[in-house]
Amino acid sequence: MTEVNPDVESVVLTEDEIQVKVAELGKRISEDYRDADLLLVGVLKGAFVLMADLSRAITVPAEFDFMAVSSYGSSTRTSGVVRILKDLDLDIGGRNVVIVEDIVDSGLTLSYLLSNLRGRGPRSLEICALMTKPDVQEVALDIRYHGFAMPPQFVVGYGLDYLQRYRNLPYVGTLKPHAYEE
Ligand code: IMP
Ligand code: MG
Repeated sequence: MTEVNPDVESVVLTEDEIQVKVAELGKRISEDYRDADLLLVGVLKGAFVLMADLSRAITVPAEFDFMAVSSYGSSTRTSGVVRILKDLDLDIGGRNVVIVEDIVDSGLTLSYLLSNLRGRGPRSLEICALMTKPDVQEVALDIRYHGFAMPPQFVVGYGLDYLQRYRNLPYVGTLKPHAYEE
């Protein structure tokens, strides 16, 4: 077992729990797109870790692209105003697209992305989100590939950051109060 980072208060999802779930999601996606052309779109930066593991759990031919978005707001809350920092390299017109997102909090980021990508005429558009926070989600989203429903707490690890740190933790956990003060 990996040693827990001293800034982490409690581990909410262990490395093993995450790996089992990601393997399951990859298997389901592979079955659903067995005879279809598949394009996974990762939402940077948070989704880079999930994308790396999920891509290797997918056994059908697939292509990968990334988008970087930033939502205006504080470091622990989104405002819903989304800016595209890096757009896709590929044209998604006529493609079967699965958006890969680390966590859905209010749902505002994803709902903006969905309408933006829908406007480009994909053949199909689905969402894979490893985590959701049902208690604080403000927009209803149809998430086809879903990992974990989380308590409404701010968490870091497995791609998720606080001020750009902790993304490389292989588990997901809450931070000790002192970590917010430094
Ligand atoms: P939403 O627009 O409120 O759904 O927020 C989505 C984005 O906010 C995610 O893609 C994350 O980058 C970030 N985010 C939401 N909740 C957390 C959290 O608990 N820890 C770290 N980042 C988070
Ligand atoms: Mg973030």
